[in-house]
Amino acid sequence: MPLQTIIIPDHITSLPNASRAKDIIDRAHQHINSYTATTNAVIHNFVHCDFELVNQALTWIQDNHILTGNNFCELGSGFGVAALLATHHGLNAVGIEIEPILVDQATNLAASLDLATTFYNGSFIPRNVSDLQDIQQAAAEVEHVSTLEDDIYDEIGITFDEFDLFFAFPWPGEEHFFESVFHACAADGACLLTYQGRNGMHLTRQL
Ligand SMILES: C[S@@+](CC[C@H](N)C(=O)[O-])C[C@H]1O[C@@H](n2cnc3c(N)ncnc32)[C@H](O)[C@@H]1O
Repeated sequence: MPLQTIIIPDHITSLPNASRAKDIIDRAHQHINSYTATTNAVIHNFVHCDFELVNQALTWIQDNHILTGNNFCELGSGFGVAALLATHHGLNAVGIEIEPILVDQATNLAASLDLATTFYNGSFIPRNVSDLQDIQQAAAEVEHVSTLEDDIYDEIGITFDEFDLFFAFPWPGEEHFFESVFHACAADGACLLTYQGRNGMHLTRQL
């Protein structure tokens, strides 16, 4: 079955960001700036998305009752801001990140904002994928995603096919990899939201 694209209208960019969301975003920028100013460690695959736009997309998704349930997962969560915003929007949100230092940073940020978002250290690619061949083909084309498989979903206590919304920020040209994992492993009705830089937000549903 193909994935179904759900068009997010361009006018979401004029949706107001609520004051609590602005507070989360401001604090996240301060946190990221202070981290990057005080560390020499360069995390090659980390770059953050447009948090305001992610918040506007989440607002639109919730206002239009797009989701079939409440479970949210940020795939490759970095500082975890999309997951923090999802918690603010009433979702049961987690983030999965392969770099331990970023998991610590996201966890500290969540605590400082008093948000109950949990971050896990591991690979978001689930073990025992049924359609592994498709994923392996797509994995051969990605440079910025670790293609290790992991059983992190056991630790989370929510399987991949129990999540209702995933968010990811793929590097340009690597969108297909995220769609392959999503297509192989997500439940019918689940959605994948991706930030695609100049091309904005893209939303797709598993049929
Ligand atoms: C482009 S950054 C996006 C960060 C964050 N989602 C955002 O939008 O601000 C991608 C992140 O994915 C992480 N990553 C790469 N491969 C991963 C994997 N297999 N499992 C978990 N995280 C991964 C990288 O370390 C990096 O922090």
